[in-house]
Amino acid sequence: MSSTWKNNIEITIFGESHGKAIGIVLGNLPSGIKIDLEEVAKEMKRRAPGQDKMSTARKEADKVEIMSGLQDDVTTGAPLCGIIYNSDQHSKDYSLLKEKMRPGHSDYPAFIKYRGFNDVRGGGHFSGRITAPVVFAGAIAKQILAKQGIQIGAHILSIKNEYDENFDMRLSTKTLEYLRRQHYPVINQEKYEKFVNIVDAARMDQDSVGGKVECAIIGLKPGLGEPFFDSIESHLSSLLFSIPAVKSVAFGNDKISELFGSEANDCYYYQDALVKTTSNNNGGITGGISNGMPVVFTVGIKPTPSISKEQKTIDVKKHENTTLGVHGRHDPCIVFRATVVVEAMAALAMLDLVR
Ligand SMILES: Cc1cc2nc3c(=O)[nH]c(=O)nc-3n(C[C@H](O)[C@H](O)[C@H](O)COP(=O)(O)O)c2cc1C
Repeated sequence: MSSTWKNNIEITIFGESHGKAIGIVLGNLPSGIKIDLEEVAKEMKRRAPGQDKMSTARKEADKVEIMSGLQDDVTTGAPLCGIIYNSDQHSKDYSLLKEKMRPGHSDYPAFIKYRGFNDVRGGGHFSGRITAPVVFAGAIAKQILAKQGIQIGAHILSIKNEYDENFDMRLSTKTLEYLRRQHYPVINQEKYEKFVNIVDAARMDQDSVGGKVECAIIGLKPGLGEPFFDSIESHLSSLLFSIPAVKSVAFGNDKISELFGSEANDCYYYQDALVKTTSNNNGGITGGISNGMPVVFTVGIKPTPSISKEQKTIDVKKHENTTLGVHGRHDPCIVFRATVVVEAMAALAMLDLVR
C-alpha cells in the first residue's frame, strides 16, 4: 500500500483510524513562508468530529503536532510533517467486521487485496479520519496560495435532492468571505435547516444520505496547466477522487452538454487591462489551461456506507450469505465535514500547479 501523491509537491499520508496516530508529510514546499497556526487550527475545527449531530459522536480535538519543516512558524523548506494522535477509539465495535463485509465500504476489496491483514477498526487506513491531516496540509497550502492572490472556498450544494443556490460562476472574493464566516457553509441560509432535517430523518430511519459540494478557486492567473494529461481538470480530479466517498467531479456548468454552442461558449471581453468572459460555463478552464476566470467545480459524495439498517452481505469466514446492521459511531452524512476536505485537496492541487 502506498499513500503518496507526487508531482511538483509530494504528499504522503499515514495512519489508521484506531491506530496511535495519523499524519501527513508534505515535501517540496517553498521556504520562508510565515504560517498562521491559529488559522490552521480553525480549519481543523471545521472537520473535527463530535461537535454536533451532523457528525459522528467520536470526540477528537484533532490538534496537530508539527514534527518538522517549520521553525518559528516559518517554513524551512524541509519536509513538513504533522501528526494527530488518536484518542477516542471504540475498537470493540469493529470485531465483527473482520468477517462480515460492510456493503458500500472498502472491507471486501481490502480483505482480498491485503489477505485479511488490513486494520478494519474504524475503517483503518480507508477511514474518513485520514482526511484530518489532509485538512492540515490544505490549510498550509491555502496560506501559501493566499500570498499569491489565490483563494479557495466551498459550500454544501445539496443534501440528497435538496439544493442550495449554485455559485454565480463569475463570483468574487466577497462570496468566499461570506462562506468563510460559517462553520458548515451554504449560500442560502434557509437551506441549512432543510439539509439538517433531511439528515435527521435518514438517521432516525437508521439510514444515511449523500450530497454535493461546490468549490471555487479565485485569482488563478491565465495560462496555468497543460493540455491532455496535465490539464487542470485531471490534476484536481486526481486529488479530489482521493477523498473517501467522492464519486463524481464535474467542472463548470454541469448542464453544458445540454446547451447550444452559442450558449455554452464563454465570450471574451476586455475590462481595462484584464480579459474576462461574459459567462463561465467552462469553469475557468479551457484546453486544460486556466483562462483567468474562477475555477468552479462540484464534487458528488455518496451516502455514508456504515448504516445501522440491516442489509444483505457475506460472511467471508463462514463463506455464507448473511445480513449486517453496522453499529458504532458514524457520520449520518459525510458532506458537512467533507466541505473543508474538498477545499484542502483543491488547495494542494493548486499549490502543485503554481510550484
Ligand atoms: C470526512 C469523512 C467522514 C467519513 N465518515 C464515515 C463514517 O462515519 N462511516 C463510514 O462508513 N464511512 C465514512 N466515510 C467514508 C468512507 O471512508 C468511504 O466510503 C470508504 O472508505 C469507501 O471508499 P469509497 O466510498 O471512496 O469507495 C467518511 C469519509 C469522509 C471523507
